[in-house]
Amino acid sequence: MVQAKAWLLAKHFDGFPTESNFELKLEQLPEPKDGEVLLEAVFLSVDPYMRPFSRVRMNEGEVMIGTQVAKVIQSKNAEFAVGSHVVGRCGWRTHTVCDTTGLTPVMVDWPEDVSLSLALGAIGMPGLTALYGLEEVLGLQAGETLLVNAAAGAVGSVVGQIAKIKGCRVVGSAGSDAKVAFLKELGFDRTINYKTVGSLDQALREAAPEGYDCYFENVGGQFSSVAIHQMNNYGRIAVCGCISLYNDTTPQTGPYPHLTMIFKQLKMEGFMQSRWEHKHPESLKRLMAWMKEGKLQCREHITEGFDNMPAAFMGLLQGENTGKAIIKV
Ligand SMILES: NC(=O)c1ccc[n+]([C@@H]2O[C@H](COP(=O)([O-])OP(=O)(O)OC[C@H]3O[C@@H](n4cnc5c(N)ncnc54)[C@H](OP(=O)(O)O)[C@@H]3O)[C@@H](O)[C@H]2O)c1
Repeated sequence: MVQAKAWLLAKHFDGFPTESNFELKLEQLPEPKDGEVLLEAVFLSVDPYMRPFSRVRMNEGEVMIGTQVAKVIQSKNAEFAVGSHVVGRCGWRTHTVCDTTGLTPVMVDWPEDVSLSLALGAIGMPGLTALYGLEEVLGLQAGETLLVNAAAGAVGSVVGQIAKIKGCRVVGSAGSDAKVAFLKELGFDRTINYKTVGSLDQALREAAPEGYDCYFENVGGQFSSVAIHQMNNYGRIAVCGCISLYNDTTPQTGPYPHLTMIFKQLKMEGFMQSRWEHKHPESLKRLMAWMKEGKLQCREHITEGFDNMPAAFMGLLQGENTGKAIIKV
């Protein structure tokens, strides 16, 4: 019999998460039945969506939602061999007994010299989000100027690099000098530290005097209110996330974008990467190929130890990570 550790949502978040929102539980797992597998987590993901989704998708006392790369350590399902790896929506747990619903085998020809943790990052959900936001939502064209915020994070860092591959001019905003230095390493044309810049409006204008054709929105709130004025006529905005609003207890209010949207005839579209799930296998191959060609760099911020998951999650919401935030068990 295997003992699993699991992090529960002890109490719904109210404002910024604290240790008291989480509870560590030990569970004795049953033997897998026919069709089931026993998984052991190798890498787990902490993501911003967990904060807003917990409120709408979870009850108190449930295991925190989340995805992991896990090794199959017992199998009563011929399609999942012992020793193989899967990406699974198992939540924050070290071991899981489950039927194979929601499990995706890691890409068959995953190269031996590439860490499997990237299946939670650039060669996984965040990479796919970047790709679909640029191609399906924005329809980014060579020669255009793109703005992306939270640019040194899991999604943003891939957004900027794909936009460079596509022959665009890229301006990235991030929250520290070290992050901005990282963006320069990645080939971003202009960078902004939004925390230290005197006037964000002026910095955005100086970074792209010709204006922005496309805006990949990860942050929302005040940043968005400033940036929208710098869009070119007929500009496109992909609303991927709004992390600056996730911990609000009282909703932020205006300025509202409507007049600017009308005068500049802007198009704004929210999206979730899952809309293009049918394209995932092909898209993951494209991301992997770019990485192997050296066109896509994948930085990770690794926290050691399952017990440190809540701290890693809170760190992510405070901007501690450069690249994808990962927990190594
Ligand atoms: N629509 C979808 O399908 C989809 C899928 C994945 C992710 N997302 C969204 O995409 C965004 C980025 O996600 P990610 O996984 O790549 O996370 P991430 O960028 O790796 O990490 C979050 C980053 O957000 C920034 N941040 C945190 N609080 C902030 C605040 N109050 N104001 C401004 N910036 C703040 C921090 O960077 P700084 O130091 O630069 O502030 C932090 O490092 C999130 O909004 C997420 O919800 C959407």
